[in-house]
Amino acid sequence: MTATGARPLRPAEGPDDSLRAAGQAAGCRIGAAVDHAALAGDPRYAATLAREFDALTPENAVKWAEVHPAPGAWRFGPADDLVAFAEAHAMRVKGHVLVWHEQLPAWVGALAAPGALRRALEDHIRTLVSRYAGRVTAWDVVNEAVDDAGSGLRSTLFLERLGPGYLAAAFHAARAADPRARLLYNDYGAEAPGAKADRVHALLGALLDADVPVDGVGLQCHLAAGAGPRPAAVARTVRRLAALGLRVELSELDVGVRAGDREGLRAQAAAYRALLDACLSTGCVDAITVWGVSDGHSWRRREAPLLFDPEYARKPAHGGVLAALRGRARHAAASLVPRGGESRGMQGSR
Ligand code: G3I
Repeated sequence: MTATGARPLRPAEGPDDSLRAAGQAAGCRIGAAVDHAALAGDPRYAATLAREFDALTPENAVKWAEVHPAPGAWRFGPADDLVAFAEAHAMRVKGHVLVWHEQLPAWVGALAAPGALRRALEDHIRTLVSRYAGRVTAWDVVNEAVDDAGSGLRSTLFLERLGPGYLAAAFHAARAADPRARLLYNDYGAEAPGAKADRVHALLGALLDADVPVDGVGLQCHLAAGAGPRPAAVARTVRRLAALGLRVELSELDVGVRAGDREGLRAQAAAYRALLDACLSTGCVDAITVWGVSDGHSWRRREAPLLFDPEYARKPAHGGVLAALRGRARHAAASLVPRGGESRGMQGSR
């Protein structure tokens, strides 16, 4: 047994009113970003994760600084635990993130010679992706490569030292290491029409035109209740990206409110439901990940942005997501879309 007790927890009793059951009926994976320490240390965290979600993304465990802190030195333990937990509970695992300018170890930043950085990048991807081939069935390959203004590629050490070709190199290396994994580009602020959304769309179109193996795009969706983009605008963005032939995922969804604001919690639930209603109705979103299991472990703790409170009690937002998934499931049943949908991110399908 691993540190996280990778053993099936007691199945839900009574009618299954979990997000997981509703998502499976709707043909949409419902996942959470997972903190290894919380999973290993809090049985309520593990129980909530196993009951409510059928997908997980390591929140930090496979970021370069965490998993590959020094040349040739790897810390696979936390990632191994998360993958084992996922396998014990029939959950998809999406690796996050192979190439990102944040959470890089100092030794990578010190690689001034382009050739050395390119070799390190390809070795990192090859070692990590091949280790989990067939077990981690999706990867955020490149994260946040477009600048906030949408004027071009973000100035990072990868762009400065390797040129724009670093994106293609990363995707090709990942494909070579696991031909069956879904390979995604992931970014924030591109959920609704605007310069950044246009730039992300153009970048992905150019990569696909150059036969770079990109299978999908993650729209992070770090939002605020009452301030986020209109759901219909996000749905238009989803359709536009799907028209490139890409899978579209809501990859880091959270909706901030002022903690303790009861009215805000109702607005938060409505925002979750409206966004998911709009995005699921496109038929182009087959995976939604909320960026954390409970507010107590959120990177935006003060804004209480998630579906469970710090004591793992369901918030109104849980009901909003459940209603949207059930609404999609009813639509799917009515239009005879096969249960589980034709495009679920199942093992072996991208
Ligand atoms: O692991 C070290 C630990 O050794 C050290 O003792 C401790 C104190 O310095 O820091 C630990 O690293 C922290 C890491 O989380 C793991 O817990 C970093 O300080 C902390 O900055 C890091 O925060 C993460 C953040 O990305 C980093 O930018 C958040 O948990 C994570 O939720 C957040 O997630 C990102 C996505 O990956 C990409 N999209 C945006 C999203 C929000 O920033």
